[in-house]
Amino acid sequence: MPHLEITDLSAAYEADAKVLKDVNMTVDKGEIVSLIGPSGSGKSTLLRVLMGLLRPVGGQVVLDGDAIDYTSKSSLRHVRDRCAIVFQQYNLFQNMNVMRNVSIAPIKIKGWDKKTVEAEAADLLAKVGLADKHKAYPDELSGGQQQRVAIARALALKPEVLLLDEVTSALDPELVNEVLDAIRVLASEGMTMIIVSHEMAFVREVSSKVVMMDEGTVVEAGPPAQIFDAPKTRRAQEFVSKILRH
Ligand SMILES: Nc1ncnc2c1ncn2[C@@H]1O[C@H](COP(=O)(O)OP(=O)(O)OP(=O)(O)O)[C@@H](O)[C@H]1O
Ligand SMILES: [Mg+2]
Repeated sequence: MPHLEITDLSAAYEADAKVLKDVNMTVDKGEIVSLIGPSGSGKSTLLRVLMGLLRPVGGQVVLDGDAIDYTSKSSLRHVRDRCAIVFQQYNLFQNMNVMRNVSIAPIKIKGWDKKTVEAEAADLLAKVGLADKHKAYPDELSGGQQQRVAIARALALKPEVLLLDEVTSALDPELVNEVLDAIRVLASEGMTMIIVSHEMAFVREVSSKVVMMDEGTVVEAGPPAQIFDAPKTRRAQEFVSKILRH
């Protein structure tokens, strides 16, 4: 049984204008699935729907065998307990130091034990290369450091699936790699992830599966070698030849 199974999923921001159309996809435990495709193809929308930030108009999402009911508060809570998302804009709490940013939700929202949470937050910060920044405030950090805090903050809630939406796109080029390195560490530990990224070399390196989307549908899905070296569909061939030329 796949960890996450998406069947015929459709979504729309406005009635009669579907931006996801019958999307099918599976994600196994420990898998890293990357979504690629042109701007506006529905990558962010798919992540939003999975998190319950936009209610689907059709289809089904099954997480660990449970069909998610996006109209039910308890089902949504269940999803948000198990999945976490990090966006391009890291949105840290500016008035809190790094440790507080990472530990506040587990302590205040989950009610977990403060000492335990802080010890785990320290481990997470070490993992993303910020062991020496516990007391720093966001405005004292680079964009790459802030994004790594945002990743640690998402992980502090112990998600089973981590969704990353272009987490390096707002960063100066020299800061991109430090964030990718943090994601590489998570990948090596078997974290299940769905990644939207324009860093194609990285996508190729870490993904178990690459899903190409266009106009709200999945055009082609397969291992990176298939998608990047021998895409089967004409649309994927066009897209890949365009992006790899750059
Ligand atoms: N809040 C919104 N309201 C209405 N339409 C939206 C909204 N957000 C996105 N859309 C539309 O939904 C479609 C899919 O957008 P989405 O943001 O999912 O694309 P994307 O693949 O993530 O693109 P990009 O690579 O530029 O981030 C686009 O046609 C977009 O214009
Ligand atoms: Mg997007």
